[in-house]
Amino acid sequence: MTTLIEKAQAGFAQRFGDSAPDGVWSAPGRANLIGEHTDYNGGFVLPFAIDRRTVVAARLNGSSTYRVGSHMFDDVVTATIADVAAGSLPRWSTYVLGVASILDADSPSDRPRGVDLFVTSDVPLGAGLSSSAALESAVAVALNDLWHLGRTETELAQVGQRTENTIVGAPTGIMDQSASIKGRADSVIFLDCRSLETEVVPLGFAEAGLALLIVDTREEHSHATNGYAARRASCELAAKTLGIDLLRDATMTDLIAAKGKLDDETFRRARHVITEDARVLETVRLLRDEGPKSIGPLLTESHNSLRDDFEVTTDRLNTVVEASLSAGALGARMTGGGFGGCAIALIEEPEIDAVTDAVRLAFSDKGFSEPTIFVAVPSDGARRDV
Ligand code: GLA
Repeated sequence: MTTLIEKAQAGFAQRFGDSAPDGVWSAPGRANLIGEHTDYNGGFVLPFAIDRRTVVAARLNGSSTYRVGSHMFDDVVTATIADVAAGSLPRWSTYVLGVASILDADSPSDRPRGVDLFVTSDVPLGAGLSSSAALESAVAVALNDLWHLGRTETELAQVGQRTENTIVGAPTGIMDQSASIKGRADSVIFLDCRSLETEVVPLGFAEAGLALLIVDTREEHSHATNGYAARRASCELAAKTLGIDLLRDATMTDLIAAKGKLDDETFRRARHVITEDARVLETVRLLRDEGPKSIGPLLTESHNSLRDDFEVTTDRLNTVVEASLSAGALGARMTGGGFGGCAIALIEEPEIDAVTDAVRLAFSDKGFSEPTIFVAVPSDGARRDV
């Protein structure tokens, strides 16, 4: 972590001259233990923050101009809030300036609010680990402090989601930003996506001798161009047909009663959401009452439902799950939006090498490019570092 903070400070000095930033803030990527494609249905999710972070060094510059630099690009983006609406900014910088424009519009001020901001990160990009939510959340906590806004964690998560929905153009839910902002070490965040009520649920993996592997298939996913929006539309259609606002309020009995009014695909999409919400609640119960070893089958059931009913898995994601289970994992599933990205596997610690080797072998047998595999460390959410 020290290195990322130092990198952010050095990058800031290099782009904006020698003077120090006012502070350094960071926010992590996330993985989801269970509760997939339930957030935009007002349902339940159980994500955690990972130990990969996006770090921003920032300073108020006394003007109304924003200057945004990144370790990935030599050029600094210089813009005003008006440029965000004009849609002419480089895409990566819209995550930063989008958050700034939303916070600024919500709490206008006569004071000049321009900032110089430098971004660096070790969250893998495009891997389904929410690098974009990490960036939005780091910027949101930084501006909340620099502008003395006093926003709550939930409000800052909502600003990140609005940035995705209204500025980046991705119709995502509230899960990623909530995990990035509210994450706690060794815990999952149990979030009711309708009330936004949050509970921290301890995982206790280490005491139970368990590890959670993250397998990045390195198959690039993209919410805007793949079926994410179509899945969301199917859920909305199912809810409308059932006469409710959100599928969160449907039971399997309601769905079966309405079967004649829904086409097979829409029926299956809704069945995934309803059964997934139930699996999240059961996972929370098991974590509390029986310990983490007991949750494996629920993870695998979630994957099967995402594969068969929601149809957002890929050959590579299915291969990770099958190979992990064959090598002794207690449970495994894709995590995130799907269509590529990452899967997770819950394993007994001594099996780490066996499961890792099995997944690598299965990938090479099928001619897939090598996956990246690492042990997930559920971590703290967004914070000020310096
Ligand atoms: C993406 C979205 C989230 C959520 C998941 C699926 O990660 O950003 O809001 O919908 O997909 O659970």
